[in-house]
Amino acid sequence: MNNKRIGVFDSGLGGLTAVKQIMQELPNESIIYFGDTGRVPYGTRSRETILKYTRSDIRFLKSFDVKIIVIACGTASSVSLPQIKSEFDIPIVGVVDAAVYQAVRTTKNKKIGILGTPGTIKSGSYEKLIKEYDPQIQTFKKACPLFVPLVENGHFNTTVAKLVVEEYLEEVRREGVDTLILGCTHYPLLKDVIAEYMGEEVTLIDSGAEVAKYLKKKFDADMLHSEQTDEDQYKYYVSDSKENFEELGGIFLEREINGQVEKIDIEKY
Ligand code: DGL
Repeated sequence: MNNKRIGVFDSGLGGLTAVKQIMQELPNESIIYFGDTGRVPYGTRSRETILKYTRSDIRFLKSFDVKIIVIACGTASSVSLPQIKSEFDIPIVGVVDAAVYQAVRTTKNKKIGILGTPGTIKSGSYEKLIKEYDPQIQTFKKACPLFVPLVENGHFNTTVAKLVVEEYLEEVRREGVDTLILGCTHYPLLKDVIAEYMGEEVTLIDSGAEVAKYLKKKFDADMLHSEQTDEDQYKYYVSDSKENFEELGGIFLEREINGQVEKIDIEKY
């Protein structure tokens, strides 16, 4: 048993897709979430910058003496995790492995689509791992740089969101994939629009939700479960104004988070 908290971070709102699922899978756990809203987006930045941001986000979460860190960001998981994993004396998990594990088990026609930020797509992280599981699987990838700003501005189900989804997904749909990895944790917030465009026969893999399921298995195996819940069970930190995060995050999590969000200076970490 381990009563310490779980640290989760992302560049902004997207990681809440993982948090929502962790709350369901592991209801006794206490979570510290950091959304780097002052530096979002990560996905269009250089590798050096993404590494620098990832390190400071981990240092910030480590200051709470958490038991594990979840990189609920496809970009930081793809670009930074392989390198920084050995730099910290704490277990760190990312979203790529969990999403790929589920995708290769889901596809029937061995055609998997991968959506991600430019950084994630350029890294090749998802398809490399898919090929390791099964070299016969064909992958079709697409960078979707406008999805993150859409989500951060609350465009979950609007006409603009529909137009952008159509523009980005046309090619992947034409290829006939039966499984589509939402390789950025912001994208499940556009799930309805993406699902409608792709059609019923395509299964969407939510990387945030998959990492939560993975975490549950890991906690079972390594006996990491908490026996007691903190008084402040869920605490959220951001690096820019908290109002937008409180409003959109609350809608998405379907719970009031006003008063639980604090702004910090991430440059200090
Ligand atoms: N949620 C992050 C991801 O999964 C968004 C990246 C960004 O800030 O561009 O990749």
